[in-house]
Amino acid sequence: MAGNACPVKVKIDNVQKIYKGRTGETVALNGVSFDIAENEFVCVVGPSGCGKSTLLNIIAGLGSPTSGKVYVDGQEVVGTGTERGVVFQQYALFPWLTVRKNIEFGLKLKKLGKREITELTNRYLDMVDLREFADSYPKELSGGMKQRVAIARAYAVNPEVLLLDEPFGALDAQTRTQLQSELLKTWEQEKKTCFFITHDVEEAIILAQRVIIMSARPGRVKEIVNINIPYPRTQETKMTPEFLDLKNYIWSQVYQEYLAVRK
Ligand SMILES: Nc1ncnc2c1ncn2[C@@H]1O[C@H](COP(=O)(O)OP(=O)(O)O)[C@@H](O)[C@H]1O
Ligand SMILES: [Mg+2]
Repeated sequence: MAGNACPVKVKIDNVQKIYKGRTGETVALNGVSFDIAENEFVCVVGPSGCGKSTLLNIIAGLGSPTSGKVYVDGQEVVGTGTERGVVFQQYALFPWLTVRKNIEFGLKLKKLGKREITELTNRYLDMVDLREFADSYPKELSGGMKQRVAIARAYAVNPEVLLLDEPFGALDAQTRTQLQSELLKTWEQEKKTCFFITHDVEEAIILAQRVIIMSARPGRVKEIVNINIPYPRTQETKMTPEFLDLKNYIWSQVYQEYLAVRK
C-alpha cells in the first residue's frame, strides 16, 4: 500500500485546476493530494462534475494543473508518455483500421520489429478473447468488444500506469461484470498501477485496493477507503457482508456529495 513498503508510483501533490471561460472561472480541482503505490489498483468515485476526468487528464499529461504537480517515478509529468496508457469510455478506436491494426498501431510507434509486433498483438488478442475478430472493423463489434480492443491496445504497449476513465460506463450490466472479471484477472497476472474512474460504487469495490471518494465541485479528496478484501475476487464476493458494508458506507458518502451538487 502507498506509504508502506511499496514504492510510490504516482504522486499527486496539491493539484488545483481552474478552467477560465467567457462566463467566468470553474474551480474543477482544489488541493488534491494522494499517492498511488507501484502496482496498486486505485478507484475514484464521486459525483458528476467533481473533476475526476480533469484529474485523470492531468496524470495522463493531456492537461496541465493550474498549480501543484504530478510525478511518476519521481519525475514531474509535463506531457503524455508511453509509460502511461489511457482508456476512455468511448473506445477511441480508429474506425478505418481492423482490430489487429488498432492494436498494432501503438507497437509500430514504439518501433518494434515486425515479428514482435505480431506476437504481442496475438497475445493481447487472446487475452481479451478476440483472436477470431482480428480482421473485423470496430463498427462490426459490440460495445463490450470494442472496449476489449481498447484495453488490449493499452496493455500491448506495456505501460507502467493504466489510466481508465469510466471504461465500462457505456456498457450493459452483464458485459460490464464480465469485463470487470477480465480486467481483474489481467491485473493479477500482469500487475500494473491502475487508476480507474467509475460512477459505480460496486465496481470500485470489486476492483480496487483503495477507493478515493471525491467531494462535489471543487473536487477534493473527501476520504480514502481501504478495501481489505483478498484477491482473487469474484462475483460472489459482491454478496459477502464485508463487501456489502463497504458498499453501504461508500455509497452514503458519495450520496452526500450528490446532494451537495443538487443544492
Ligand atoms: N475544458 C473545459 N473547460 C471548461 N470547463 C471544464 C472543462 N472540462 C471540464 N470542465 C468543468 O470542470 C468540472 C469538472 O469536470 P470533469 O473533470 O469532467 O468532471 P467529472 O469527470 O468528475 O464528471 C465541471 O464543472 C466541468 O464542467
Ligand atoms: Mg468524467
